[in-house]
Amino acid sequence: MTGTATTTSPVLTVTDVTKAFRFGPPWRRQRIDVLRGASLEVGPGELVGLVGENGSGKSTLMQIIVGLLGHDGGTMTAPARLGYCPQQPLLWEKLTVAEHFELFNQAYRLDDATAASARDGLLDELGFAKYLDYRVEALSGGTRQKLNLALALVHRPELLLLDEPYAGFDWETYLRFWEMAERRREEGMGILIVSHLLAERDRLTRIYELRDGRCEVIS
Ligand SMILES: Nc1ncnc2c1ncn2[C@@H]1O[C@H](COP(=O)(O)OP(=O)(O)OP(=O)(O)O)[C@@H](O)[C@H]1O
Ligand SMILES: [Mg+2]
Repeated sequence: MTGTATTTSPVLTVTDVTKAFRFGPPWRRQRIDVLRGASLEVGPGELVGLVGENGSGKSTLMQIIVGLLGHDGGTMTAPARLGYCPQQPLLWEKLTVAEHFELFNQAYRLDDATAASARDGLLDELGFAKYLDYRVEALSGGTRQKLNLALALVHRPELLLLDEPYAGFDWETYLRFWEMAERRREEGMGILIVSHLLAERDRLTRIYELRDGRCEVIS
């Protein structure tokens, strides 16, 4: 195993996290325990995979790490500067690609020069510069995902969380995506990537499988 998180302090630590969802009407209240003590770790410069069958809780765990969902038990440490690429792109239909970058640059408080070079670099890396003035409603699914991914990266996060970021990518973009991820990892970014595919296992530092609410190292 390469570059385990034991030598340097991890950029993400999840310890015994539990999460239950409650749903249904009061007279037929149901509860599902999605996470039952999930633990995992990502070190700087690690590209870590998270696999598991549909409904095993991968997206739930990611949303808890990002702070979009609360958890019932357990602890977590994550850096303030993190990037998150959700499974379903979170974009505004009426805004253009350029306007999305502006919004995120403001949210991250990037200065103009840094913002412009980060934006242009990402447009170039992912090959969608020609769509800069398109509104999201006019973009294909794959291009929306490129934007989604680029927005998670503009502020050079210490930790990057990717929830199946390439589902709509064509083959060339898919390969380019993995090269991008490896470049970021080499620069010291910690990356956690949700995937059903194990085809790219050689690129991953470590793979966790989420099963019965817990994470187990499988590779
Ligand atoms: N808001 C919610 N209310 C009730 N149940 C939920 C809610 N969100 C998720 N769940 C349930 O939690 C479980 C885990 O869902 P989650 O989306 O985390 O799975 P996943 O591993 O990401 O699946 P997939 O591979 O399909 O993306 C599922 O059984 C799902 O139905
Ligand atoms: Mg999911």
